[in-house]
Amino acid sequence: MHKMDALVHDAMQVGIEAAQSAGKILCDMLETATVREKAPKDLVTDADVAAQECIEGRILAAFPSHQFLGEECSQPDVIRAMASNVEWLWVVDPLDGTVNYVHKMPNFAVSIALMHRGQTVLGIVLDPMAQELYVATLGQGATVNGRKLQSSTCTKLDSALIAASFPPQVQKDSLEIAQFVDILVHSQSIRRLGSAALNLCYVAQGRLDAYWAGFLKVWDVAAGALIATESGAILSSYGGKQHDPWGGNLIVAGSRQLHKELSGRLQAAEHDIY
Ligand code: IPD
Ligand code: CA
Ligand code: CA
Repeated sequence: MHKMDALVHDAMQVGIEAAQSAGKILCDMLETATVREKAPKDLVTDADVAAQECIEGRILAAFPSHQFLGEECSQPDVIRAMASNVEWLWVVDPLDGTVNYVHKMPNFAVSIALMHRGQTVLGIVLDPMAQELYVATLGQGATVNGRKLQSSTCTKLDSALIAASFPPQVQKDSLEIAQFVDILVHSQSIRRLGSAALNLCYVAQGRLDAYWAGFLKVWDVAAGALIATESGAILSSYGGKQHDPWGGNLIVAGSRQLHKELSGRLQAAEHDIY
């Protein structure tokens, strides 16, 4: 096996074990976790922190020369500045869907990605309540609980089920609201589920036909974006630009035709309000 493939294979084993341990921590702490606001409506719990410490400990014990960026790290901007020069960078959201978690809604996940010189080569997302483990490696496809994933073949917006995310500080006149109203009218239906990582996995799985979001962070999307594209989904940033996991926004759809139609409508909504 090529040296890099062997490393990614080993990383996959370590990453899956780390995700499962973190998922157990989240489930064990569900009834007792204490909550605080990082910013208005932006929540963090002691379970987020405990899960991240567990993941970081396991990963750096196995790969001491690798860099680690987790949502609950104190200096994410420093790591971002270094990211494209870093040979191996782990990007982790220990709990994606904290608002759901706090309300004991089951839609939350552990998200772990590995980047090699800025390119995501491994994505792992675990839904610990549903016991669904999504895994992708670059060029090798994506699976859920070992079964191959294939995104949906839906080509038309009016028969598509679409998810959206909103940032915690969304306002009445935010772009996302104008887009939401337009897509609600023109799609079959819309969901706001509360975990960006799981939305991307659901597009990979064909449960959702498409998903769009602004204001996301790299740890929300790095793993799920690889899982979606490895399942055949089409992914871009707003305006059809090549997707940048650090860029904050994305449009993903199971088919190229649906991606085009959705992108066009989202862009038109943007022009209408600016
Ligand atoms: C949030 C979730 C949510 C999205 C927010 C994210 P967190 O992540 O992914 O779906 O709308 O923008 O911040 O805070 O639960 O890790
Ligand atoms: Ca998140
Ligand atoms: Ca989080």
